[in-house]
Amino acid sequence: MRGIILAGGTATRLLPLTATTSKQLLPIYDRQMIFYPLNVLVKAGIKDILIIISPEHSGHFLNLLGSIFDKNDIRLEFKVQKAPRGLADAFIVGENFIGHDNVTMILGDNIFEDDFSEDIKRFKSGGKIFAVKVSDPERLGVVQFDENMKAVKIVEKPKEWLSDYAIPGLYIYDNQVIKAAKLVAPSARGEIEIVDINNWYLAKGELEVGMVKGKWLDAGTFDSLLEAGVFVKESKLYEKFDPIINQAIMEFNEELKILARKKL
Ligand code: G1P
Repeated sequence: MRGIILAGGTATRLLPLTATTSKQLLPIYDRQMIFYPLNVLVKAGIKDILIIISPEHSGHFLNLLGSIFDKNDIRLEFKVQKAPRGLADAFIVGENFIGHDNVTMILGDNIFEDDFSEDIKRFKSGGKIFAVKVSDPERLGVVQFDENMKAVKIVEKPKEWLSDYAIPGLYIYDNQVIKAAKLVAPSARGEIEIVDINNWYLAKGELEVGMVKGKWLDAGTFDSLLEAGVFVKESKLYEKFDPIINQAIMEFNEELKILARKKL
């Protein structure tokens, strides 16, 4: 299993914060947002992770993550995406990186309380996505279930109410996803949409939809960014991080403190 984190995009809803750095490098309490999706993948035992970033702040990502996992066997790769071409473009951009493996993709601004390690480790084939009950489904990808809670339809930002179950930004796919991303036609806005990938698997009867039990946030607005920080502080979510990440952050901080002292 390989991992991809989407950390590109322009995040204009967070201006002026995103004029000086990337959204995924903004703080959620005591660490940058990018550590949250990283944690989901590292906790699941994924060793090879591709981070897709936009050109403007690529240096910032390297400053933070360029050597943070030098002491363990987690390998980070970066790819610069010059213009956003849709979430599912990641499977084309990342084709060589994925190779013949399966892939878990996570959006760089999604904060999950749940631990998805078992879902990722146990994954065999097809696609697995998740559903979470929300009060504002119209701004998200939405899944409709039948009376047996079997997914029947997936629509991106539905104009008419379909269901209260949104699809958060965590997607597990087998290697067919590369083929699927090449097969689905770009949408009216010229992007390769993740909804089309999910419907491609659904039509083949190969899409499983799990339920999110804990808190989920996409920290893409001022309010959700603040809410995420408060939630992390109050729930002490940072304590539940994989020890590899907590240790790496601690050593990173120590190193910088020593360097700062030397400069005095
Ligand atoms: C994207 C996806 C959407 C998903 C959401 C989760 O939307 O297109 O299906 O529900 O992420 O964060 P965006 O936030 O890019 O509008």
